[in-house]
Amino acid sequence: MDQPFLYDEGVDSWQTVMFLYNSALKQVETKLEILNDEFQHVHQYNPIEYIKSRIKSPESIVKKLKRNGYEVTIDNMVEHVKDIAGIRLVCSFTSDIYRLAEMIGRQNDLTVVSVKDYIKNPKESGYRSYHMIVSVPIFLTDRVVDTTVEIQIRTIAMDFWASLEHKIYYKFEGHAPAYISHDLQECAEIVGMLDAKMLSLNEAILEAKATQEDS
Ligand code: GTP
Ligand code: MG
Repeated sequence: MDQPFLYDEGVDSWQTVMFLYNSALKQVETKLEILNDEFQHVHQYNPIEYIKSRIKSPESIVKKLKRNGYEVTIDNMVEHVKDIAGIRLVCSFTSDIYRLAEMIGRQNDLTVVSVKDYIKNPKESGYRSYHMIVSVPIFLTDRVVDTTVEIQIRTIAMDFWASLEHKIYYKFEGHAPAYISHDLQECAEIVGMLDAKMLSLNEAILEAKATQEDS
């Protein structure tokens, strides 16, 4: 990976590429914080409970390339690893997820490259979350480079499930005993029910409040 590879007329080294991903991550993170603050300012409500961001480690990048059958080059990494810069938005309610996704989609300086809705279509493991790959222009002194960032949006309950599942997956190196996978799937169903129930409860509270204010 220390070998310089030519990419897109000049993104030519590991350091440059990582610099771009770090910049993209900062830019998108700030943007999301501003959106959240503005929402608070206008609606007295925060759709985001918290934001976590990370840059994928070189080991994980190499592992992912190999797992998907690609040679380890900077070109392949930029082309095929879309989650080098990753941001996770954790919300209270599923409605916040779709509200945020819509807000992100409306940003003129972000391009939504792809969307995967694992809430409407959960993974076989039971995994639920809303994924967006966005691209953001990074303005360098002599050129502009579009750089991708993965945004994962989920509820607190989905995040709780995903972090436990992730730990178990690693513990068993992807081969958890059947009863554990089964129990995890069951927990994912419970998470789905909990989220639905919390959402309707919150809607009932808001409605009751509105009626109270009207009378
Ligand atoms: P990866 O190779 O895992 O990145 O998958 P992908 O490129 O096909 O994209 P996908 O949208 O399926 O998953 C991207 C990311 O979502 C992963 O890197 C994880 O952070 C998360 N994710 C996806 N599936 C699961 C899952 O079953 N369990 C947990 N805990 N996280 C998941
Ligand atoms: Mg990933």
